[in-house]
Amino acid sequence: MPTRTALITGGTSGIGKATALLLRSRGYRVMVTGLGDPDAAGLPADVIAVRADARSLADIDRAVEQAREHLGSLDLLHLNAGVSHPGPIESTDEAAFDALFDVNVKGSFFTLQKALPLLNEGASVVFTVGAGEGLGSALTAAKGALLPLMRSLAIELAPRRIRVNAVSPGVIDTPAYTKLGIPPEAIASWSEGVPLGRIGTPSDVAEAVAFLSSDAATYITGDNLLISGGMGVHPQAA
Ligand SMILES: NC(=O)c1ccc[n+]([C@@H]2O[C@H](COP(=O)([O-])OP(=O)(O)OC[C@H]3O[C@@H](n4cnc5c(N)ncnc54)[C@H](OP(=O)(O)O)[C@@H]3O)[C@@H](O)[C@H]2O)c1
Repeated sequence: MPTRTALITGGTSGIGKATALLLRSRGYRVMVTGLGDPDAAGLPADVIAVRADARSLADIDRAVEQAREHLGSLDLLHLNAGVSHPGPIESTDEAAFDALFDVNVKGSFFTLQKALPLLNEGASVVFTVGAGEGLGSALTAAKGALLPLMRSLAIELAPRRIRVNAVSPGVIDTPAYTKLGIPPEAIASWSEGVPLGRIGTPSDVAEAVAFLSSDAATYITGDNLLISGGMGVHPQAA
């Protein structure tokens, strides 16, 4: 069987980095993108890491071209780059609002559009969304926009047997929270609100992405997999 290939946006840290390392350990050839210096991510040398701002269509073009050069075609596109600006409406300014929609929604949409020619028949596309509510209306709206987008694309790309799904992490211990200035003890205390009693790890989410990309999931498309330890589960939900 040919070696599988994966492109992971926002793969230089947290969930994306854990996914890159897990897939590499399973024999994938992997390329990741990030906003900062990709060399600072500390990834193994055989993981191709490039700087590409998800808000910039020119950067996306360049990253996709590098994926074509290095990987040829793709079996997995993990649309994971994201930013969080949690907070109430009163403290969400225009820059925060634009960043939320530009990175999470526009970046994911155009990365997929431009990477489409590289996707193999039967490839998997996975959006990172989020199980959280109460993190602020703009963040919830930006992440929420990804779900109908994912479901529409699952139907649109089904004729090419490309499967499109989402993973929705609950609270996962990644550098995202320290970047927001949240102290580790505050993060640890959030486990009290998790039915399974612990904060998630990046590898909890990476395993779900690897599953959706695997031969075990070839009949799953248009789905949103919660990886939340039970957070966001509503017993009366349809
Ligand atoms: N952690 C959680 O509890 C949680 C919960 C729900 C959803 N999520 C989602 O999970 C995804 C990964 O988050 P994480 O927790 O792993 O955070 P993280 O450790 O901060 O990683 C975020 C990644 O996105 C990249 N990124 C940020 N802005 C970018 C941009 N403009 N262009 C390209 N790449 C950009 C970062 O690159 P640099 O490192 O170079 O900046 C980094 O690789 C995000 O979509 C996030 O919204 C996380």
